[in-house]
Amino acid sequence: MTQTEDRTSLSTEDTPLVPIEKVVALCKRRGFVYPNSEIYGGVSGIYDFGPLGVELRNNIRRYWWWSMVQLNDNILGIEGSIITHPRVWEASGHVENFVDRLVDCKNCKRRWRVDHLPAENLEQNKCPFCGGELTEPRTFNLMMETYIGVVEGERMKTYLRGEACQNIYLDYDNVLKSSRIQIPFGICQIGKAFRNEVTPGNFLFRQREFEQWDLQFFVHPSEMQKWFDYWKEYRFEWYKGIINHKDRLRFRAHESTELAHYAKQAFDIEYKSILGWQEWEGIHWRQDWDLSRHSLYSGQDLSYTDPETKERYIPWIVETSGGVDRTFLNLLLDAYEEEPPSGKDKEGRTVLRLHPWLAPVKVAVLPLQKNKEELVTTARGIYNRLKRLMVAQYDDVANIGRRYRRQDEIGTPFCVTVDFQTLEDQTVTVRERDGMTQIRLDIDELPGYLVEKVMWR
Ligand code: GAP
Repeated sequence: MTQTEDRTSLSTEDTPLVPIEKVVALCKRRGFVYPNSEIYGGVSGIYDFGPLGVELRNNIRRYWWWSMVQLNDNILGIEGSIITHPRVWEASGHVENFVDRLVDCKNCKRRWRVDHLPAENLEQNKCPFCGGELTEPRTFNLMMETYIGVVEGERMKTYLRGEACQNIYLDYDNVLKSSRIQIPFGICQIGKAFRNEVTPGNFLFRQREFEQWDLQFFVHPSEMQKWFDYWKEYRFEWYKGIINHKDRLRFRAHESTELAHYAKQAFDIEYKSILGWQEWEGIHWRQDWDLSRHSLYSGQDLSYTDPETKERYIPWIVETSGGVDRTFLNLLLDAYEEEPPSGKDKEGRTVLRLHPWLAPVKVAVLPLQKNKEELVTTARGIYNRLKRLMVAQYDDVANIGRRYRRQDEIGTPFCVTVDFQTLEDQTVTVRERDGMTQIRLDIDELPGYLVEKVMWR
């Protein structure tokens, strides 16, 4: 079975690029994302996730895990710690190489990353915003420092991990010895990473604390190209399967000058939003960089012996590395739509056309009127049954049209309405979010119908 089999197809209809402010406002208003420490004025590049945000995040994580770990027999999962021995970051090259070069505008005081400046501004040493003169570049390391221990003088300086994947190299030998897996195989992990980004911004796009998902796939050097191509395509299809605007996805090969210190070649999967074409996930040819460096710095031999040929070698690594937060943001930018009034909806509506698998709430149960006891009792009964299977909401406040719009705005794919006919024949109205079409179903058919539509298969 492949990850794309049996997938519900989504609309590819083109719509204008959504201003990020609209998504930021929706996130705050409906409880997806809040600025961190807001009552103290906030911290730039750090966010908290609210009740709907945490459901969406969990669904995004679970779908990635399902299609990477559960569906692939040659992949195992781990969960490593955020703090490691400081030598890890010397071996990985981050202490020396994980830097950004910055310039400031002498006139408007805006700060720019040198690698983000348009070529013309770089050549003329001019600020892209006001045309003012730029300062000489200064170099900053992005690693966040912390300390282990309490006694002054005995405390050990280390780092919050700058890329989550390092734990996978540290645990590679343990995974190999504690399971019966053999090369080629992969290890997956989802976890937080921390970077002192010098220009955090664009909401969740560039943060200082964020979450990454990584596959590190270990191969014989002679099979590197084959597996690199395989995972590159697999990951592209994965993203294509969860967005509406398939034409806003593309690959971009890295120039040799922009390659990270660990990569011999790299492709970004990019998504086009109001921010332009931007990286969503990186596919990196890490080769033997990581295991060789950790062998050298730790003194532990991390080479692999082929059980059949007895050949001994350092495995090469294909990395696919993306972000939970960037996926969260891109999905909202992709799904958000403001629909003008139409025949079906006289007032117009804001709708989040999220894939039903990822939507934070799967179904809302609505009694037509809240002052009719029989309607309320039946609706409560349906809600109590459905919430054991999926995230459901019960809503009896305001007229039915307004309640539909409230659910559309948070991306709920189905609303179930209990009306007077329900009391006669035990059927309900099931209203679907995107086309606003309605069907009638027996109450007993509801669980099976909804599970089929909203759970990945
Ligand atoms: N282990 C390889 C690595 O860390 P990366 O391209 O620096 O590669 C991988 O990061 C992914 O992590 C990016 O494609 C992006 O989705 C996410 N990411 C990186 N920096 C981020 C930041 N400051 N805020 C949010 N997401 C970020």
